[in-house]
Amino acid sequence: MKKIRKAIFPVGGLGTRFLPATKAMPKEMLPVVDKPIIQYAVEEAWAAGIEECIFVTGRGKSAIEDHFDYSYELQDTLHKRGKSEFLEKVRSCTPKAGQMAYIRQQEALGLGHAVWCARNLIGDEPFAVLLADDMVMADRSCLQQMIEAYEKVGGNIVALEDVPRARTGSYGIVTPKKQTGNLVTASSIVEKPEPEEAPSTLAVIGRYILQPEIFDFLEEKQIGAGGEIQLTDAIAKIIKTQPFHGLLFEGQRFDCGNQLGFLEANIAFALQRPDLKAGMQGFLDKY
Ligand code: G1P
Repeated sequence: MKKIRKAIFPVGGLGTRFLPATKAMPKEMLPVVDKPIIQYAVEEAWAAGIEECIFVTGRGKSAIEDHFDYSYELQDTLHKRGKSEFLEKVRSCTPKAGQMAYIRQQEALGLGHAVWCARNLIGDEPFAVLLADDMVMADRSCLQQMIEAYEKVGGNIVALEDVPRARTGSYGIVTPKKQTGNLVTASSIVEKPEPEEAPSTLAVIGRYILQPEIFDFLEEKQIGAGGEIQLTDAIAKIIKTQPFHGLLFEGQRFDCGNQLGFLEANIAFALQRPDLKAGMQGFLDKY
């Protein structure tokens, strides 16, 4: 079984829900406490052993490249001023040379198209996809849990969360066949079904482990839900010939793609911080 070494981060989205904050800044750079959302996703990937991060970007996203770049002036200044704590924070988001790759998605044609844009950088090996909007707070990172499951069952794996039926129209939803512990064997997947048509309430959150054959199906460029090329539709095809599982991961997920989820993540992550916990609790009591 080939190791999962590469991860795709689709970061081409416009971030319209956060306008005007995202007018001149990528939504992935919005901070939860003091770290941009994208850094949480990258750290999750690193913690799971990912060696190469591939960002599928678009216009106006160069701040992401700068964020993960070596910043000589800043580091030198912090070093000279003896600000070792801040220097460490800056260093912690600087990867080794050659670990980050950036490719442009020229048109916003959907998540499936974004993943397809990275096909030549992935080549012929299984890979992960992380959607930074979905933040997961967990003792063992969500992707780590998925890779452990992958090492047992192989094939294609998605992270699953049981959602209220009224919310199925926001997610990819799987048809479960059998469940062993927290691993669900699924027979199909459908993108954003109406509640009354959804095959279950098991929703895909933004973490995937996929086999490279997925690119053959993405190549078909089938237009799906919302008039976009959907990753879900390609997964629905690949699972006719390959194993497909969903992992009910341990941890709490925050949907940072909308304001409330983003605000909740800020509160939850601040409450985890020894230096901020009491202050944040005080604010919560006050309001
Ligand atoms: C995407 C996927 C969907 C998945 C969701 C998770 O949708 O298409 O299948 O359930 O991410 O956040 P989006 O949120 O980009 O509309």
